[in-house]
Amino acid sequence: MAPIQKLTPEVSAKIAAGEVIERPSSAIKELIENSLDAGATRISIELVEGGKAFIRIEDNGGGIPSTELPLAVESFSTSKISRVEDISRVGTLGFRGEALASIRAVSMLTIRSRRAGEEIGRELRFRAEALTADAPVVRNQGVEVTVENLFFNLPARKKFLRSPQSELRRIIAVIQGYALSFPETGFLLRESGRDILSYPPSSLRERVEIVLGGELFTSLIPLAYTLGRTTVHGYASQSDQTRANRYMQFYFVNRRYIKDRVLSHAVNQAYESLIPRDRFPAIVLFLDVPPDDVDVNVHPTKAEVRFRNEGEIHRLVLSAIAEALQRKVSSFAETVESVYRSIFPGPGAVAVPRRGEAGAGLPGSGAPWTGSAQEIGEGDRTFEFHETPLSLFGEETAKSLFTPGKLYWQLHQSFILIQIRGGMVIIDQHAAHERILFDRARVNLGGAKPVVQSLLFPATIELSPDEYERYEELTSVLASLGFEIEPFGIRSILVRGIPAVVQNWDDGRLLEEILGGEGRSGIDEFLKSYACRSAIKAGTKLASEEMESLTDQLFATDLPYTCPHGRPTMLRVSLGELERRFARTVSAKR
Ligand SMILES: Nc1ncnc2c1ncn2[C@@H]1O[C@H](COP(=O)(O)OP(=O)(O)OP(=O)(O)O)[C@@H](O)[C@H]1O
Ligand SMILES: [Mg+2]
Repeated sequence: MAPIQKLTPEVSAKIAAGEVIERPSSAIKELIENSLDAGATRISIELVEGGKAFIRIEDNGGGIPSTELPLAVESFSTSKISRVEDISRVGTLGFRGEALASIRAVSMLTIRSRRAGEEIGRELRFRAEALTADAPVVRNQGVEVTVENLFFNLPARKKFLRSPQSELRRIIAVIQGYALSFPETGFLLRESGRDILSYPPSSLRERVEIVLGGELFTSLIPLAYTLGRTTVHGYASQSDQTRANRYMQFYFVNRRYIKDRVLSHAVNQAYESLIPRDRFPAIVLFLDVPPDDVDVNVHPTKAEVRFRNEGEIHRLVLSAIAEALQRKVSSFAETVESVYRSIFPGPGAVAVPRRGEAGAGLPGSGAPWTGSAQEIGEGDRTFEFHETPLSLFGEETAKSLFTPGKLYWQLHQSFILIQIRGGMVIIDQHAAHERILFDRARVNLGGAKPVVQSLLFPATIELSPDEYERYEELTSVLASLGFEIEPFGIRSILVRGIPAVVQNWDDGRLLEEILGGEGRSGIDEFLKSYACRSAIKAGTKLASEEMESLTDQLFATDLPYTCPHGRPTMLRVSLGELERRFARTVSAKR
C-alpha cells in the first residue's frame, strides 16, 4: 500500500465536507471500512454501553507502519488517494483521510498497530487532540483502535445519543451490512463480555442466510443481471414474503454499504403491483459499477453515492428483479392452479383471484372460513344509493330500529347488510371492528383488564432497531391491551398472548406493522393504527352470528357511527329511498 500522505489543499477542498462521526455506529462503520481496506479476514469488535463508553475494534489486516502512525490520525491524511483525479476512481472504501482524525477529535483514542514485517509495533494515545502516550508495543500484525468516552468533550452532542440498547442496534445494522458485503471476512461482536454476533468467514449464500435468518432466506430468490458495464447480483424476496419496513433491504455499490433513492425506487417499482403499499420486500443487492460511473464523494459519511447514469441503473435493477420474480412465478403458476382446483373442484377453468381483489379471503389465505351467511349482490357494484350516514337519525333511535329476529347478509365479504324498521343499514365490517377495537383499547388503557388469547405456539418476532425502540416505548401500553410479550435476545421479542379481540394476528405480522409505523406519534395515533391493523379486513367472510356479534359490539361503543379516523361505519337506506329509486310512488314518507 502507498504511504500515508497529507492531501494537498487542492485535493482536500474537493472532499464532501460535513459531520463524519454522529454516533457510535458511525465510528464503527469507519473503523470496519479501514479494516476491510487493509484486507482483514477477521474483525472483532467489543463494546461497553452500546459503544458510548467503549469501542475496541481489532483486525488482522496489513497494519500501519510505525513511522506513519502519527500521520494516520491527522485530518486529510490517507494512503488511498493522492491526486484530484483519484477521487473519481476510488477503489477503496476510504479515501478522505478523515475518519481517524474525526474520531480522535471527539473521544479518547488509542491506536495500536504492527505492520507486516515489523518486529515491534507502536501505540499512540490521545485525549481529543492532545497526545498522551507514545510507546512501542508487542502485538499481532494488524491494527487495534480503542475509542473511549465518545463526545466526552462535546456534552451537547453526547446528549443526543440514545440508550445503549438503541445504539447497539444501530451498530448491529452496520455490521450486518458489511458482513453481507464481505462474507469472506469473519466478524465478531461482543458487548460487555457477551457474544452478540459471530459470523465465521463463509460464502455469500451462507452469509445471507445467517444475517437475514434462515426463515427469510428460504423465501429469497437469487438474481443476477448485466447491462452494459454494470452488473447486479443478490437476493430478492418472493412477493408473498414481505415485511412491514425496509429494514431487511441492503444496497451495496462496489461493496460499499449505502442508502440510495434510485435503487430503492427501482425495487419498489418492481414489486409495485405485486405487494400492498405498506409492505416491503427483503433485498440484498450488489451493484458492480465502473468506478468512473459512480461518484462516492457526495456525502460526508459516505452513506450515499451518485450514479452518472441514474436511468440506466434504475432499469438494470428493475429488470433484474422482474426477471427473478418472473422466473419464480412461472414455475409456481401450475402449482397454484392445481391447489386451487383441489379446493374448488368443478367444471371449467378457474380464475385465480389476485391479491387485493374482492374474494381474496379464500380458504387457506388466512381468513376464517366460517361460511354460513347468505350472500347477495355478487358481481354488481353499480348499485347506487342516496344513502344517509346513520348518525343523522339520532343516536337514541339507532338500536330501536332493529327489527326482532334481525337478518344479516354479507356483501362482497366486506359489508354487512341488515334489515331494519323502515329500511336497511349497511355496515362496513372493517370500520366497525376498528371502532370496537379502538374503544376497547381505551377502556383497557383506563385500567380494565383485557381478555387475552394465549398463542398455542408463542411467536418470536425479530424487530428492526426502530421497531424495537418503539416496542420499548410502548411496552406498558401493549401489556394493557393484552399483548403478553417478553424481550427475547438482543432485538427479538417473544409473544405468548394477544388481545382476544384481535382478528388479524397473521403470525406476528400485526405487531411488526403496528411497531413499524413510519414516524413517531402519540398514544392516540398508535391506538388508531393498532385498531386499523387488528380489525377484520374487507374480504373476510363472516358467519351470521359473527355479523350479529359485531353489530352488537359496535352499538355498545361510545361512538358507533364513525371509525377512529372519522369515516362512517354505517349507512342507512330508507324504504322511502328505495321506493323512490324504483319509481314506485312519490312517497308520502318523504
Ligand atoms: N485498520 C487499518 N489497517 C491498516 N491501515 C489503516 C487502518 N486504519 C487506518 N489505516 C491507515 O490510516 C489512514 C487514515 O485512515 P482514515 O480512516 O482516517 O482515512 P481513509 O480510510 O484513508 O479515508 P476515510 O476518511 O474516507 O476513511 C488510511 O488511509 C490507512 O492508510
Ligand atoms: Mg477510513
